[in-house]
Amino acid sequence: MNKPRLLSGHETELLTSEELRKASEDLLKYKSGLVRILPDGWLYPAITTRYLDRLYNMELRPDDVFIIGFPKSGTTWMQEILWVMLRNPDLDPNNEEMKEPLWVRSLDVSFDLHLDNDKLAKRDIKSLAEKFSRVCSGKKVEDGMAIQIAESQPSPRVMKSHFPLELHNKDLLKKCKVVYVARNPKDVMVSYYYFIRAMRNANYQGSLEKFAREIKKGDFRFCPYWPHVLQAWRQRDNPNLYFTTYEDMKDDIMGQLRNINKFLGKNLTKEQLKKIAEFTSFSSMKTRGEPIDKAFFREDMWKKQGGMFRKGIKGDWKNHFSPELNQEMDQWIRDNVKDTGLNIQYAFADASPTK
Ligand code: A3P
Repeated sequence: MNKPRLLSGHETELLTSEELRKASEDLLKYKSGLVRILPDGWLYPAITTRYLDRLYNMELRPDDVFIIGFPKSGTTWMQEILWVMLRNPDLDPNNEEMKEPLWVRSLDVSFDLHLDNDKLAKRDIKSLAEKFSRVCSGKKVEDGMAIQIAESQPSPRVMKSHFPLELHNKDLLKKCKVVYVARNPKDVMVSYYYFIRAMRNANYQGSLEKFAREIKKGDFRFCPYWPHVLQAWRQRDNPNLYFTTYEDMKDDIMGQLRNINKFLGKNLTKEQLKKIAEFTSFSSMKTRGEPIDKAFFREDMWKKQGGMFRKGIKGDWKNHFSPELNQEMDQWIRDNVKDTGLNIQYAFADASPTK
């Protein structure tokens, strides 16, 4: 039987009832079922194929900047950096746009798939829904709120996406700029775990070990992990892609800001960059508050865990992984980075201390 194709040319395959029976309980909450996008097997709620086609057709502008990364890799941090550099580099406190939460001034074009869920009410995404009514009048919610708001945004746009490079328009890297952020997958697992436990529409009940193995097997939303990172890594010499890691940002944020300044062709001064580093530091962002509506999360857990700005450190896996789990994940990392030239720092047990 022919498998339906996306506009990007990828074949898609719905999960069978047998596969659904084995899927993570979290993923069974989607109304549309689940789909794998081939050949890598990207796993999403089935409705995502519609959003991917919409995204594929989105008109790209030469000054668009995308931040792409696997969830929980530090994409919100980079998103704020890029947005400020492009739209408010002097950090003018009276900047009107700045009064909006980050997620409605810089859209996550992979967000809409979360709405395929009975657990999420419009009140949970109030600021997004309000903006949609304001700037997308006459448009249909089913065609994607975040994507359509993004389509209406003024230039230069800063958009975020958790989809892998290959599912975007084939001309993405010819027409606009992409910043890709990767993070030690063991820290991604810990960060993602806390996130989905608190997310109202996920409310994950399993253990961290179970979750880590689901990610490893590619059996969770936005997986598989390695093809996501390696597709971008292979493009590291493309002049329109800047590849960086959460760990590099933690170690030397000024160095990263200088590189990004150059990559964007911005010519911001050292003073401006210093202020941007401070403005986007973990403590400043945490103090300013949530970039996305709090009601998206279960309040009790969200507060307890520290919210969207949970810990903001390298190596939190050391506080969570058993020696066995660590060994298993180290082997998985070794197998996957072998011969790629990619050095995911701090992934292994003997790495430098947490800071
Ligand atoms: P932790 O859960 O380990 O604390 P994403 O934005 O891609 O969802 O990634 C979220 C992770 O980035 C969270 O990690 C969060 O705390 C961290 N983060 C967000 N803003 C940060 C900042 N300004 N500096 C350092 N880490 C940040």
